[in-house]
Parts: sequence; structure tokens; C-alpha cells
Amino acid sequence: MKKFINEEMFEIIQYLENELKTNNEIYIEVLNPNVKDNIYTGEKIKIEEKEFIYRSYKSWTDLSEILFCRMLIIALNENTVVLKFLKLNKLDSFHNDLNDERNEKYGENSTFFRINKNEEPVFLNTYLNALKNVKIEEKRNILNLGINKADEFDVIKKLINEEILNQMNFVGIDYSKSAIEYSKNRFPKENFSFYTHDINKLDELNLKKADLLISIGTLQSSGLNFKLLFMDLIQNYLEDKGSIILGFPNCRWINGEMIYGAKAANYSYSEQSVLYKDVYFCKKYLQQKKYRVTLTGKNYLFLTATSIK
Ligand SMILES: C[S@@+](CC[C@H](N)C(=O)[O-])C[C@H]1O[C@@H](n2cnc3c(N)ncnc32)[C@H](O)[C@@H]1O
Repeated sequence: MKKFINEEMFEIIQYLENELKTNNEIYIEVLNPNVKDNIYTGEKIKIEEKEFIYRSYKSWTDLSEILFCRMLIIALNENTVVLKFLKLNKLDSFHNDLNDERNEKYGENSTFFRINKNEEPVFLNTYLNALKNVKIEEKRNILNLGINKADEFDVIKKLINEEILNQMNFVGIDYSKSAIEYSKNRFPKENFSFYTHDINKLDELNLKKADLLISIGTLQSSGLNFKLLFMDLIQNYLEDKGSIILGFPNCRWINGEMIYGAKAANYSYSEQSVLYKDVYFCKKYLQQKKYRVTLTGKNYLFLTATSIK
């Protein structure tokens, strides 16, 4: 096991990258981040006549994420800790799951179904702020496209008192039959409706216009025409002064970890041009239609729009 004392990050990255070429797990001993408060990563600190470079746990977990590893703490000593970097199996990802004819790539038996974004603080915090921003307690008709197992409704349920919740109508659409069955059982009350349906054929459902439209990680799906669908939603499925919350993934889910950076076709690394292009298209379009638009978030970019007509 290698011990790092006052080596620079430049050297540590090179060491780990090299080791990960042949090993699935690497152990390193480093300064215990607990030795001092109020200190920046990179500052020097002297302990028992030895000079260490300080790094926070956040720096170490960032490093682990960059290297496609999961970081574990193996030993806690007074002045040092032993960290394990466990290489992620990149093949273990729903992104690699093949779509089948029954639209079950995201269904109950999929890898995707195991993911609970509401337990990821960077996701939950941004989503909660978006809901507060649109004044969720004043909304009465909420339409969610690509609802999957209805995690987005679950947060609203926790946020709103029951009396108001009972006055709200929730509609969720997804073409995964098993996900819709799961959502129906999860929210059996009459004011929740779930449809197994293709978003491309939304007009067949004769839906009432919503005063809040939510869609997370769905509109950029390969079978959907992003721009046309987005404009159709605003024109035909949103009340005149309705609000919008769109979540754009800027991460990949690999082997149990949420890894920062959008996945892009034909790139071996994260490339974010399509993400920014699509987000900016929506922002511009909505601004022209007199909406106040904010962009927030990290692993999911949230576009939140409220009417200023
Ligand atoms: C990446 S998942 C996001 C699910 C959920 N909003 C979340 O963030 O956990 C995309 C969802 O959209 C659904 N979906 C993709 N294309 C669709 C289409 N054309 N019609 C209906 N649902 C679709 C998938 O079945 C899946 O549940």
C-alpha cells in the first residue's frame, strides 16, 4: 500500500490511473481529513515534524468519481486514513441495457428500477427547490411525462399537507407497463392517474391541460423528437400561466454510483454539447413566451419556468 504525505495531486492521479490499468482495487494511506477544521484542500499542515498536504473527503470522493471508482474507508488512524478505490464495472449500467419491443428497458426488472434518485442529495435538493420555486402548493393539475415508478410524485406527497394534496390531480405517463402498474399500486387514490402510453401519441389520451408539467430524464430519449415534443407540450398541454420543471441528466449510473457528466453518443468520455444545446433551446423558447426561466443543479440540470405574463 502506498502512503501519500506531501505529494501533489498531479502525482497521485498519475499513480492511481496507472495502478487501475492492472488492478481492480487500490489502497492508499493519506492524511486523516479530521486532523483540522477550516482548512482548504492543498494547504500544508505539519504533524509530528512531517509536512502533509491537506485534502478533504470531498476531494477524495471527487477523485474516485473521476477515476470511475467507488471510494471506501478501510482504516481510521489518528493522523491518517486508508482509502480503497474500487474500480466500477462499466458494463453494469442501465445505459447498456437493450431496449426491447415491450418498452421495458426501464421496467420493474430493469437495472434502472433499482435507482432511487430521491436518496441522492444533489438531485433531491435541486428538485425540492424547483418545486418551491413553482409554488407547488398552488398547483392543481400536475402532468408528469416518463413517470416510471413515480418517485417525483412521492417527493410532492411528502412536501404538501394531505388536505391540499387531496385537491391536486396527478397524471403520470410512461410506456413501460410494469412501471405504470407499480405506480398505480404505490398511489392508489383517485386523484392519481397513470397511463401506459407512448408520449409520441399523447393526443390519444385527451388530457386536460396541466398547471405544472414535470419531466425528468425523458424528453431527450432516442424515440422522441425533443424540440417538436417540447413545443407541443407548451402549446397544447400547459395552461396559459402554468409552470414547468424539466430535469436533464448530466450523469451516468454505473455499478451503483451516480457519476457526474452526461453520456454522449460516439464519445468515450462525457461530452455535454447536446445537453447545453437542448437546455438552451428550451430556455430561449420559454423566455420568448414570457416565462422566467432558471437553470439549477449539478448531476441533473433543472430548468424551472414560471409565467410572467
Ligand atoms: C430515464 S427514465 C426517467 C424516469 C423518471 N422520470 C426518473 O427520472 O426516474 C425515462 C422514462 O421515460 C419512459 N419513456 C421513454 N420514452 C418514452 C415514450 N416514447 N413514451 C412513454 N414513455 C417513455 C421510459 O420508460 C422511462 O420510464
